[in-house]
Amino acid sequence: MTKDSLAVTDNRTGRSYEIPISDGTVHAIDFRQVKTSDDDFGLMVYDPAFTNTASCRSAITYIDGERGILEYRGYPIDQLAENTNFLETAYLILFGELPTRDELDQWTHDITYHTYVHENIKKFMEGFQYDAHPMGMLVGTVAALSTFYPDAKHVDDARSREISTGRLIAKMPTIAAFAYRHSRGLPYVYPDNDLSYAGNFLSMLWKMTEPKYRPDPALERAVDILFILHADHEQNCSTNAMRAVGSSRADPFSATAAAAAALYGPLHGGANEAVLRMLTEIGDRKRVPEFVKRVKAGEGRLMGFGHRVYKNYDPRATIIKRAADEVFQVTGRNPLLDIALELERIALQDDYFIQHKLYPNVDFYSGIMYQAMGFPVEMFPVLFAIPRTVGWLAQWREMVQDPEQKIARPRQVFTGPARRDFVPIEKRNSRREDAA
Ligand code: CMC
Repeated sequence: MTKDSLAVTDNRTGRSYEIPISDGTVHAIDFRQVKTSDDDFGLMVYDPAFTNTASCRSAITYIDGERGILEYRGYPIDQLAENTNFLETAYLILFGELPTRDELDQWTHDITYHTYVHENIKKFMEGFQYDAHPMGMLVGTVAALSTFYPDAKHVDDARSREISTGRLIAKMPTIAAFAYRHSRGLPYVYPDNDLSYAGNFLSMLWKMTEPKYRPDPALERAVDILFILHADHEQNCSTNAMRAVGSSRADPFSATAAAAAALYGPLHGGANEAVLRMLTEIGDRKRVPEFVKRVKAGEGRLMGFGHRVYKNYDPRATIIKRAADEVFQVTGRNPLLDIALELERIALQDDYFIQHKLYPNVDFYSGIMYQAMGFPVEMFPVLFAIPRTVGWLAQWREMVQDPEQKIARPRQVFTGPARRDFVPIEKRNSRREDAA
């Protein structure tokens, strides 16, 4: 027997099996041989919510939750946030290496010159209700893009993948900004190709009557850093949606719309909004100890604390906290910050939070910063979707080229009724399980 294997005995039959271990995993399909009889389907593994299942091999993002480490292609997130701009990090995530000067110039040019959307996309967006949620508009409009680029369905063609990748990264901020302007009843602002990726986004959001919008450098840099921090986070809910939809060979615009829809949910892209609500409800630093006491008594959670993967300080939270100081110098201090700092101070020295390994996550400070910059809460998931499009696309490109991948199709444990015969309508009694 080799060392890298698992010895399994099935107590139902007394038979033993040797299951190989590679990369710290066993293959679920190897358990299918474990049967009680020849016509037994074989053993399956049950893992709702994928809490202990690796669904792919990936070379993009590494997280060590115990030690609070996040790396894109091996580079620590703090070094990237400090030294690169968003498009440089996007290039790294997508293509595996940091670009040379020439590569970065070409990549920046390619993205910048695809920021315009077809006029019919604008008309399409104008058709939304005046108070439409900007995230709903984003999801619908990205899906609609697939009808403008039917060639994107050639997902096995490398050139087609390149073109779709560029188009999506370039047009996402335009659609996001149009959705925001729509929700405010303001005219849409066309992209300005002289500006940086973040600067152009701010121009499309905030430009009014001035002939040329000049973004505040501190805010432009802060948005760029936030984009770098949110660019990828390995197999999270929306990335899993991107891979699952893409695995059916749907075009990347449709798959991105599905990923954005997953991000729309409050458990994923909406936690920073919950943090703002919580801080507003606390209302004063003096009420923090009382609030923490209530959390410990099981009356609600400390939003922006805790993470499925990080059991240490989320490294993105440290960087955001620093960037927030620079934003507040321009926008003025968000009064909620004092409450947040006090909450963090008290929680980090409290036994309950220490024992449960609960530390601030990325959402604890991002909402305060977005609010200070003037974003309404409905824009928070939209701000998340723009940079995460890079991660979604990198993961999708990896998936379509991975020979081990097939259409994503989980198994189930069937819990419904056993076979029974049809009952004619006049002989049926109402027995619906959800009937009152
Ligand atoms: N406040 C108080 N107690 C908490 C909290 C919290 N924020 N988070 C977890 N716990 C406790 C929980 O009550 C449980 O205690 P016990 O074992 O005594 O019953 C224990 O810690 C484990 O909690 P869990 O819910 O089983 O952990 P999880 O890994 O399923 O949940 C989480 C992770 C992020 C959903 C959770 O920590 C939480 O609800 N946090 C607040 C919401 C939040 O900030 N979400 C943003 C996540 S980061 C964004 C992203 O990356 O998408």
